[in-house]
Amino acid sequence: MIVNRTVRLVTTALIVTALTPISASRGQQAKLTSPTCTPSSVLGTPPLGKLATARGVLVGSAVNDSALATDPAYACVLGTEFNMVEPENSMKFAATEPAPGVFDFTRADVIVAFAKLHHQSVRCHNLVWNLFNPNWLTSATFTKQQALAALSNHIAKVVGHFRSKCSQWDVVNEPIGPSGTGLAPSPWLKWIGPSYINLAFTYAHRADPNARLYLNDYDFNGNGVRTRSLVSLAVSLRRAGVPIDGVGLQLHSIQSPARSAFLSQQMATAAAARLSVAMTEVDYAIALPVNTTALVAEANYFSDLLSTCLAATNCRTFNIWGFEDQYSWIPGFFTGYGAGTPLDAHLNPKPAWQALRVALSTK
Ligand code: XIL
Repeated sequence: MIVNRTVRLVTTALIVTALTPISASRGQQAKLTSPTCTPSSVLGTPPLGKLATARGVLVGSAVNDSALATDPAYACVLGTEFNMVEPENSMKFAATEPAPGVFDFTRADVIVAFAKLHHQSVRCHNLVWNLFNPNWLTSATFTKQQALAALSNHIAKVVGHFRSKCSQWDVVNEPIGPSGTGLAPSPWLKWIGPSYINLAFTYAHRADPNARLYLNDYDFNGNGVRTRSLVSLAVSLRRAGVPIDGVGLQLHSIQSPARSAFLSQQMATAAAARLSVAMTEVDYAIALPVNTTALVAEANYFSDLLSTCLAATNCRTFNIWGFEDQYSWIPGFFTGYGAGTPLDAHLNPKPAWQALRVALSTK
């Protein structure tokens, strides 16, 4: 059955709340969808997020901020089906510090306010990455002192702005080098050296001592090399007294065709160092056109990962990188691929949606 992309909005229009933007830089007010909407009943009851809460886990999705602003059906499902949200792009360096020392939280503030309205936890992404940096940063030629000042100011301002609103932060994203070992080339590595990682965690902890701080990466080809490097880097940071709380496993199928037994082993290694593990960006790229076999494989991928997380003592966060196919990043990045999320482009459930519900309901 194809359901068109409408939802029953209990109120007829988007409401503009009286939120005062914390960042006054653009002087706009945040537009939020009314929390009182009912997504199509084909998604099942109770909502996925309620099943997650009952299991003591956070199940969330990356949020496309322009979809949130323009598509009430998208906002309705996001607000009712998840107990966690994560800005897909609007907290990245280029978005939050577009010019040196000039901060803009407008886009991210809308998502954080939306989450508050819907009683959702916010996973914040990310502070330091070798991608998505503004031109002023990538073209800079900093001395070590200047780089330290820029890094500490960025983290203090961004984490400080969202203090007590982010339950988790990806402090350093994709730190591991292209071959799966060593550190990825990054401006910060060049200017500061490997200690940029320790320092980023220290600055983030100082700005919000209650946020749980993560090192987040993918596992190219799923051969385990990057994941091993990631976990061992996190363990060594932890042993050195760096305020790190966990490891984020992105788990995009196209980059990380995950193997549950291997992941369980790595999660146990992390647990032994008192580190939690979050599955942070789960999606499943299907070679188009979609067929039934691919949809079943997709359902198994989501289900295996969620079950693997639930079975571990230290995995209580499971995040998908977009919850519906219309706004997913996959087609734009991987030519010929798409359909990587549990709901189709009309917000109809695919087998993966049901698989997530079953995994959450199975003990
Ligand atoms: C992606 C977004 O989904 C895209 O919209 C954007 O154009 C590029 O970045 N790993 C990450 C995410 O940590 O930030 C990336 O998100 C996907 C890969």
